[in-house]
Amino acid sequence: MLLRQRSGLLQDSFSGFRVSSLCCPWVFLGVTEAYPRGILSAMPKPKKSSKKSARKASAHAFPKNAKKIGDPNPTQAKPASTPERQKPAVLGTPAWVGHPGNHGSRFAIAIMAAGKGTRLKSKHPKVLHEVGGKPLLAHVVAAATKVVPAQDVYAIIGHEAERVREAVGGTGINFILQEEQRGTGHALMVAREALRPYDQVIVLSGDAPLITAQTISMIRDFHQSRKPAMTILTARLADPTGYGRVIRKGAKSDEVQAIVEEKSANPAQKKITEINSGFYAFNVEPLYRHIDRLGTENPHGEFYLTDMAAVFRRNKERVCAVVASDPQEILGANTRAELVDIDQRLRMTKCQQLMDDGVTIFYPQTCVIDTDVEIGADTVIEPFVQLLGNTHIGSDCRIGSYSVIHSSVIGDSVVLRPGCVLSESRVEAGARLGPYSHLRPGSEIGEGAHVGNFVETKKIRLGKGSKANHLTYLGDAEIGENVNVGAGTITCNYDGVRKHKTVIEDGVFIGSDTTLVAPVRVGKGAYVGAASCITDDVPADALAIGRGRQIVKEGWAKEKRATRTQAENAK
Ligand code: UD1
Ligand code: CA
Repeated sequence: MLLRQRSGLLQDSFSGFRVSSLCCPWVFLGVTEAYPRGILSAMPKPKKSSKKSARKASAHAFPKNAKKIGDPNPTQAKPASTPERQKPAVLGTPAWVGHPGNHGSRFAIAIMAAGKGTRLKSKHPKVLHEVGGKPLLAHVVAAATKVVPAQDVYAIIGHEAERVREAVGGTGINFILQEEQRGTGHALMVAREALRPYDQVIVLSGDAPLITAQTISMIRDFHQSRKPAMTILTARLADPTGYGRVIRKGAKSDEVQAIVEEKSANPAQKKITEINSGFYAFNVEPLYRHIDRLGTENPHGEFYLTDMAAVFRRNKERVCAVVASDPQEILGANTRAELVDIDQRLRMTKCQQLMDDGVTIFYPQTCVIDTDVEIGADTVIEPFVQLLGNTHIGSDCRIGSYSVIHSSVIGDSVVLRPGCVLSESRVEAGARLGPYSHLRPGSEIGEGAHVGNFVETKKIRLGKGSKANHLTYLGDAEIGENVNVGAGTITCNYDGVRKHKTVIEDGVFIGSDTTLVAPVRVGKGAYVGAASCITDDVPADALAIGRGRQIVKEGWAKEKRATRTQAENAK
């Protein structure tokens, strides 16, 4: 995988790309292949579908012969309002047929992601808050798409819907708009038309990112073998505060009577430690036959999906519970404290996985390593290192303390001394960087090259074996192999309006304190004398010196001192 990603980088390396402030295009072309493209916030907007194609999609979405299922039980009161009349908007490419390997039934996954996240006290939608380096929702989508194809995954979005859609749109999943968020039950009411062609649906929460594909498959398998109308994934928590409590039919029964939300629970119910994870499996037909019986008689005045358990029970449909083997997987991020707790769990799990794979991480508690980072065996990560985004690091490397590496590719046996900052860059095998090297987007450091302290690079290629060891700025430059860039060298790449390129061919020696005024080319094997200001091309094998001649005034300082002493004596 790493190799393929690297070859993707090679193809798109360097020439002719424009660096955006967030991500350069090759990050999309190469590195994101293994992960949903949409997790990168800089993804271009997916094309808006034309009216014509939207009509075509909705013709698929609402087949004329779709059976309208009415309410068979007139004795049950209908909800006061019929919020599902809010026209459901399905965005994306719907697929309305089952897939081979879909366990013989048409099976969808719906992710509730429309809520505002009031408890986070944020202007950003809850599901876009990040843990492990990517949005909460991106984690859930990644787990869901391991179980069913993306076209059978539906994210129900509402608050800041456009931003949420953009963030995960690249994954190919569908979106359902819940314009007004009237509760988790309402979210599923709005999804009625999109989900009706399926036999079963697993419902996940966009704010609970630790769910794994294995657990989703486990819920599906349990549901398909026990055949209830609703299966609830539950967990036993030492501290169940804040979660809905699961009321079973009996202590030993796997059937459920009801779910009681924290705010509605009486003291005895609050003592129940089995909680509702917020993940469910439903048979679609009974779900939509009964969903309109949900009411809003609760402290929030919302339609609670959890109340479907009691609705089903009243209507003689079975509701089962299955306990999660790892209670951690159900944790939701409703508050900042929960968000940070989940982030830390994800990162410790990540460090543990990397260590299992042969990476040494000293003081993993101090390191921030994003979920999608890859590292080869025998690489050593010193304390206080941040490895972010789609960073890939080879084997036998050493990453010095306080280095921050964002979406970069690093080959084998690379040494980063402490304090290096790398963004969207690429470092070939055996190179040595730092301390305190700053590689800005589009920097490519060749095999065995050296970049030393206080050297800043941007959009450059530094060839194999070349060295820029001290106090240097190299921007918009192509530097060949075995070039020596002396201390304090600067490429003057910007004329105040446009950027220009500096080319330094193989084997060149640039003396210290040289300024290279671009556009300029220094030919193969040439020398540039120290402190030169190079404004014109230097031919191959030539020596260029561009500085004022030195003047020596014999005895000048001695005379100066003598005059000063005379003046002082005269006072
Ligand atoms: C919910 C459950 C609770 C369970 C807990 C587990 C309900 C009423 N309660 O509570 O029993 O223990 O999850 O984490 O379901 N959402 C929408 N549209 C809406 C409202 C919410 O899409 O109109 C989404 C939210 O964005 C969120 C998810 O549904 O991703 C869950 O909503 P949230 O408000 O977080 O429910 P909890 O209070 O956590
Ligand atoms: Ca929640």
